[in-house]
Amino acid sequence: MLNRINPQVRQFKQSGIRKFSEEAKTIPGVINFTIGEPEFNTDERIKDAAIKALHDNQTHYPNNTGIESLRRAVANFEHTQHHLDYIWEEVVITNGATEGLAAALMSVLCEGDEVIIPSPMYVTYAPIVTFCKAKVVVLNTINYDFQINSIALENLITIKTKLILITSPNNPTGTILNHNSLQAVSAMAKKYDLFILSDDVYSQLVFTDTYEMLCHDDSLRDRLIITQSLSKPYAMTGWRVGYVLADLPIARAIALMHAYLVAGVATFNQVAAIEALKIDSTWMRDSYHARRDLGYDLLMDMGLPCVKPEGAFYLFPNISEFKIDSETFCLKAMREYKVAMVPGVYFGADHNIRISYAVNDAEIIEGLARLKKMITDLRNHASV
Ligand SMILES: Cc1ncc(COP(=O)(O)O)c(C=O)c1O
Repeated sequence: MLNRINPQVRQFKQSGIRKFSEEAKTIPGVINFTIGEPEFNTDERIKDAAIKALHDNQTHYPNNTGIESLRRAVANFEHTQHHLDYIWEEVVITNGATEGLAAALMSVLCEGDEVIIPSPMYVTYAPIVTFCKAKVVVLNTINYDFQINSIALENLITIKTKLILITSPNNPTGTILNHNSLQAVSAMAKKYDLFILSDDVYSQLVFTDTYEMLCHDDSLRDRLIITQSLSKPYAMTGWRVGYVLADLPIARAIALMHAYLVAGVATFNQVAAIEALKIDSTWMRDSYHARRDLGYDLLMDMGLPCVKPEGAFYLFPNISEFKIDSETFCLKAMREYKVAMVPGVYFGADHNIRISYAVNDAEIIEGLARLKKMITDLRNHASV
């Protein structure tokens, strides 16, 4: 029966990140830089709120779009945090940003549409776009320090272009899009009447005060869709709570798609999410900032070129001097030197490797010492 399965689905492959992280787990003593997940546990106050919600029998089907109290809390939070004016009806509570992205793309895309995505890109985007029978058009940012070049962007736009998908801070690069990049996206979206999907899941994990977001440009409101998540800023990856913000007509369309996809998000998790939004988790951001400094300095010390990330918890150094592909490099690192990282090829950049530094300082120091040993051996012409 395999040949009767939807060919769009048949061509899906397991996420390369998972492939590496699963092998890493089987290697004793490995330092694991593969998974993009906070090492912290969820705050006790959030857990207590979920436990109380369970005891209060908040175990029934939620409203499809999310419980009103959480949608209102999100609207208030976004107002305070990012100075955004979305009314609570414009908030759709989703199963993490993953489902938010799927529901948003499925709501907007038609067969034959084109979606421009700056590369390197997060692994979830392309499969969903392809599933919608739309086409991923890759905007290469590697030659521009992971920024968006306006001319390169405009060159990719055709009559079929429907949406530009941006991520800032980015996974895998950790880069934030600068003013010119955002201006380019904004200008092209207006000129060619395009949607913009801004995947902002790392917006609370930013280490610079020059961070800009497209959502502050009111003239984009009717074409902008924002996906957000509680996973990273509150160490809640397993709770599966995120949300989408969009102008009311778009939010309503996404809410319908979401309702038919998943019916809703676990009620008690939504109650706990209200508690999460009250909590100041800037200490986590500050700790990632310190780890970024530690990791980046160690990479510089071993002479591995790397664009300095200004957010999220990833380093994305360039390994082109070794003249081996990123998968071979990472397999060797994991199996021989016991430091597990993700090949850049999975994100569209075969000359890079992704290091997730959401681990403790001792692991960063030891893991990067192992990487240094490997590249020293490679530089000394040890066999690959
Ligand atoms: C850029 C980006 N978007 C979306 C997600 C999905 O997050 P969630 O846990 O909310 O589904 C991730 C997770 O790693 C991510 O890095």
